[in-house]
Amino acid sequence: MVRTIGVFDSGVGGLSVLLHIREALPEANLIYVADSGHVPYGGRSTAFIEARAMALTRFLLSQGAEAIVIACNTATAAAALPLRNRFSKIPIVAMEPAVKPAVAATKSGVVGVLATVGTLESARFAALLEKYAGNVKIVTQGCPGLVELVERGDLHSEEARRLVERYTAPLLQAGADTFILGCTHYPFLAPLIREVVGEGISLIDTGAAVARELKRRVETELPPNPQLGVAGGERFYSSGDAEQAGRIMSLLWKGPITVAPLPATFC
Ligand code: DGL
Repeated sequence: MVRTIGVFDSGVGGLSVLLHIREALPEANLIYVADSGHVPYGGRSTAFIEARAMALTRFLLSQGAEAIVIACNTATAAAALPLRNRFSKIPIVAMEPAVKPAVAATKSGVVGVLATVGTLESARFAALLEKYAGNVKIVTQGCPGLVELVERGDLHSEEARRLVERYTAPLLQAGADTFILGCTHYPFLAPLIREVVGEGISLIDTGAAVARELKRRVETELPPNPQLGVAGGERFYSSGDAEQAGRIMSLLWKGPITVAPLPATFC
């Protein structure tokens, strides 16, 4: 049965989640929107991000999406609740910094969280800590500039290294042995982060868990769908410069990607 899944992020970072979704649901049609015209979300107001999440979800549903993945921690913090209220019949799977698995994994009793300021300041993140942190010390670090690096396809420059060093140093000093990559752009920087912090630190993100949860919900919640057609395809859209998005996304996806402009009414 061919399923159609809609996925969005503020930009190209959600591709780190889409890679896991492709693996978990090899036959699904995937539609991905990069909101590149408005990236980064990190410093934006909740109302702005909520309005963007609504517009992108409406677009994805208009394209036949049967389930939505918010492949963005910042958009999840700002908009998961209102989206689920507004589209209550659609499975909506959201990202969350991996606090629970990190708390289970740490040996030093200190976990570091790298995320956008928007995610770290959200009530949703506070609730997550309240629920799962227990006796583990959680040290957070907002990382302005990292999303922009990935958006430019800069995963290894001197500037990138300096930023990564600056943001990881306080976590290392605090004794963290487990780092949560709390933004879907950051897994693309994982090789650089690994070089900077060394082999002794565990890096945890939620892409694979979200893909598993999506598969479970698609299999249990969606009504039978006799749709026929060519399965396993991907379509990509951007609210910004589609050509530029295509270049960077091809790099991150490790294969050629053509990106169409998002129709103006959804921009
Ligand atoms: N990928 C988004 C996230 O997971 C980045 C947010 C932003 O654009 O600042 O938080």
